[in-house]
Amino acid sequence: MPALPASTRVPDGLEDVASGVIEQLPQTRAWLEDLVRIPSISDVPAHAEDCRRSAEQTARLLTEAGLEDVRLLEVEGAHPYVTGSWLGAGPDAPTVLLYAHHDVQPAATAERWSSPPFEPTERDGRLYGRGAADDKAGILAHVAAIRAWTTTRGGPPVNVKVIVEGEEEVGSPHLGEFLAAHAGDLDADVIVLTDLVNWKVGWPGLTWSLRGMAEAYVTVRALQRPVHSGMWGGAVPDALTGLLRLLASLHDEHGEVAVAGFDDDVRELTPAERGRLEELGEDPAAMRDEVGMLDGVDFLGDGRHGLLEQIWFRPSITPVGIDAPAIAEASNTLLARADAKLSLRLAPGQDPDRVLATLRDHLEAHVPFGLQVEMTSGQANPAWVTEPAGPAWEAAEAAMAAAYGRAPAALGCGGSIPFAEPFSEAFGGAPCLLVGIEDPGSNAHGEDESLHLEDFTKACLTEAFLLEELGRRLR
Ligand code: BES
Ligand code: MN
Ligand code: MN
Repeated sequence: MPALPASTRVPDGLEDVASGVIEQLPQTRAWLEDLVRIPSISDVPAHAEDCRRSAEQTARLLTEAGLEDVRLLEVEGAHPYVTGSWLGAGPDAPTVLLYAHHDVQPAATAERWSSPPFEPTERDGRLYGRGAADDKAGILAHVAAIRAWTTTRGGPPVNVKVIVEGEEEVGSPHLGEFLAAHAGDLDADVIVLTDLVNWKVGWPGLTWSLRGMAEAYVTVRALQRPVHSGMWGGAVPDALTGLLRLLASLHDEHGEVAVAGFDDDVRELTPAERGRLEELGEDPAAMRDEVGMLDGVDFLGDGRHGLLEQIWFRPSITPVGIDAPAIAEASNTLLARADAKLSLRLAPGQDPDRVLATLRDHLEAHVPFGLQVEMTSGQANPAWVTEPAGPAWEAAEAAMAAAYGRAPAALGCGGSIPFAEPFSEAFGGAPCLLVGIEDPGSNAHGEDESLHLEDFTKACLTEAFLLEELGRRLR
């Protein structure tokens, strides 16, 4: 049987529940691997059936955990959401909504992974596989905690509802419809989102801010069709040069966004928020190491903001894909058309539509040689910030401190989870607890995504303890 992590301090009276989590770990792990084997890539239409299979598999796990009324919730055009609940703690006990998502990012460069992305593989205490961390581990943390309570005590000390989303990685385009149809049934006193990053391996993190996000697609057109570059090159402009000049115009020499008005509506950090960043301290060398920056590569920024502020509280624009011929297929022509996808990250205070409008104006003003430029926008959602205080926050601090043997760091996050804001709002401002499940080495969305297995055990214990803490503190 696996052992309790050496640093864990089981709260008095929860020895049986902690033992339940530990005894059940091999099964938890096997279920996680089953889920990782399903390529539930929400952005690729050919994987729609896999998204359905991962929803069905998730539903089986929620049932195994002891939830009742487990269902796939369908919204026209969306990959299935999965829900279940257990309301046996009674009307006087608080209700906790546990969130995770079962869809994953594509793994297009599978040949550069050390082991195939959808074959879960253990190496050096980590489980490798697409979705192993983001966010199938989050699903299993919920399952592990509920199941331990169900098998040892007949059920958790709070009412529990679980929602596992199937379209998080594409920006939750049907969230509004889903909310309108189902928010009533999901109503809760607190929402726990197990889809965040810990501060370090062994050092948990609780997150109090998320950046917003917007997507833009840029098309540059120069010609009716590609033409011979030897015959016309030099006099006739091509679309790829035009697109690259446009992309280059988006940043200044420090890498600061150079789009006029782009950051006009960014709100200043409050002194308390700034204090929290200072308390964490910045370790640029460690950060370089965590992301794998190559020797000699500099950080971006003109020095007005610290690194944590840059990644958590400042807006950014990054090209994340270009459609142009691959080198192997390049036929030595002036290209008629070139496309790019831009990922915009938004700071607290920013209105996604306003920011996208500044980008559109910039593109139209900077397109060279009179080429035609067109921008369309995709999914967008604003930033989310909360006050890291109150009984729910303290419950999570206590649960993490017990499971990890170390108090959590209060973190910002540069990524987004579109679910948080609208559901918290729908439940009358219910607090959201953003709980770490990844670590900085997990490389979610990238190659060789992985889950630190001992921290996963601690994340499962965190949730088991959290249900007890919330039951006591929110009653
Ligand atoms: N789990 C991430 C959110 C996250 C990002 C947590 C970075 C910690 C650090 C989530 O699955 C995610 O990737 N969200 C998307 C949302 C987008 C599509 C609206 C993101 O941030 O790109
Ligand atoms: Mn995620
Ligand atoms: Mn993700």
